[in-house]
This record gives sequence, structure tokens and C-alpha cells, in this order.
Amino acid sequence: MAGAQQNTGRLQGKVALLTGAASGIGKATALRFAEEGAKVALSDIEPEKGAALVAEMTAAGHDAFYQDLDVTNPQEWQQVVDAVSHRWGKLDILVNSAGIGRAKGLLDMTYDFWQNTMRINMDGTFLGTQAAVDRMKDGDGGSIINISSVLGISGMTNLTAYCASKGAVRLFSKAAAIECAEKGYKVRVNSVHPGYIETPMVMRRFDKIATNDREAEETRLKQSHPLGRLGKATEIADMILYLASDEAAFVTGAEFVIDGGYLAR
Ligand code: NAI
Repeated sequence: MAGAQQNTGRLQGKVALLTGAASGIGKATALRFAEEGAKVALSDIEPEKGAALVAEMTAAGHDAFYQDLDVTNPQEWQQVVDAVSHRWGKLDILVNSAGIGRAKGLLDMTYDFWQNTMRINMDGTFLGTQAAVDRMKDGDGGSIINISSVLGISGMTNLTAYCASKGAVRLFSKAAAIECAEKGYKVRVNSVHPGYIETPMVMRRFDKIATNDREAEETRLKQSHPLGRLGKATEIADMILYLASDEAAFVTGAEFVIDGGYLAR
């Protein structure tokens, strides 16, 4: 049946930690994971939204908690990973979804702006991967899914910092995957590359555009995807679910594009 979610316990017994879980792709993935039987630790820098999501998930009978985690802070990473281990005794899945996507022309960009984008999108992914691999390597292993972008593969005007950070996430994931495999850590690392997805990140972009130009920009953005629309966060969550599950046991160091054909042109 088209569009129907089949909940078949694909993550039954697994423990997942997600960053950027209060919004957009992270939130949709947290909900999808819980539906498939995972215990879910949500992290973000949005405690009110995080608490509301935990309340929603708990009311639906899921096991979940929220903890603040600024992904650029190594101490907070340790605290969150410790909290997950303390509560559930292990960590099987990490999804690095926290990210920012601010636009700025190459010549208008301050060094601070550049570094902030790199710190959150790239350094945050490194810190999380390092903390998680350290926790996963001695147990049953695990799966790390890093959210890059189509803009980690192709470039875009006014998004040099974002493209650089997402390109770095792509190759970092491959190198980490190889290292984990060669060192016998049993940790898989993959990257996911969404096209433009209907989330607050993209909607904020429209908010900045004058009302009469907004429709034209939305049409232009939709048409940049051959399927003629933006993606849905749940469509990315379904790919992340596959990579997190044992169905992807032979999948590591790979990149998964879900973009309505954006990169096919
Ligand atoms: P979103 O803006 O809805 O959610 C991002 C979340 O990250 C927010 O809840 C925010 O509070 C959190 N965050 C920001 N800085 C943080 C920090 N320092 N520490 C911890 N959390 C932080 O955005 P969306 O669309 O869900 O994006 C998720 C990921 O997907 C991002 O990495 C983004 O770059 C990527 N992506 C999004 C696309 C889109 O079209 N929406 C397309 C391709 C990639």
C-alpha cells in the first residue's frame, strides 16, 4: 500500500542516539526508529522541543529521553553517551543529524561564520563518531549514519561553507568506515545525502525572501529536482532506518543519495 509505514520491529532491542533530534530529519528519524522498536535518546540544543517530543513518544508507549547536546562540545558528548550507557547498557546506532545551512557569499563571509558552519556540521560529526565508535567497538558493534547533503557532492553559490562542511562529512564517513573495518571494530559508517527537504531549515530560507518572490523561489527549488517537488523528512528517515538496521550489515563507507533526481542532471 503506497505510503503506509509497516512497523515490523526492524530495530527491536536496539539503542539509538540522535543529534538534532528536536526538528526536521532528526525528529522524523527518532519517531521512525521508535516505531520500529528502538530505545531512543534524543539530543539537541532545544530543550523545550525535545521535552515535547519525548512526551509524545512516551505517550505512544516508546522508551525515550532527551538530553541537551551542543555537538561542538566534547564534554557534552561524553555526558550524553554515558547517559545512554547508564540507562540502557549499550549504544547500537548514532545518527548525526544536527546541522546548520546558512547562506553567505564568499566575499561577504567572516572567518567566524565559516568556522561556525564547519564546527557544527563537520567537527560535531567527528566528535560524535569518535565518542560512539569508542563505545560501540567492544560490544556487538554498531551503525553510524552521518547526514551530509547533495551539497556535499555538488556545489552551490552562496553556500561555500555549507558545501565544504558536507563534502568533509562525506569523505570523513568513508575514511572512518575503512578504519573501523580494518581495526575490527564492527562499526559501520555511512553518509546520507538528501536533496531539499521540507523541514524548518528550508522553510526558514523562504521566510527570508520577500512575499512576492517566495512563490517563484519555491517553484525554482522544486524544479531543481526532476520529480518536481521537495522531499519529506520521513523519506530520509526511511533510508536512515535501513542503514541503522541489520538489513544493512554489509553496507559501510557508502553514500546514499535521496534527492528526487537532483544530482542526476
Ligand atoms: P532543522 O533545522 O530542522 O534541524 C536541525 C537541528 O539541529 C535543529 O533542531 C537544531 O537545533 C539542531 N542544531 C543546530 N545546531 C546545533 C548544535 N550546535 N548542536 C546540536 N544541535 C544543533 O534541519 P534539518 O533539515 O532537519 O537538517 C538535518 C540535517 O540534514 C542537517 O545536517 C542538514 O544540513 C541536513 N540536510 C538537510 C536538508 C534539507 O533540505 N532540509 C538537505 C540536505 C541535508
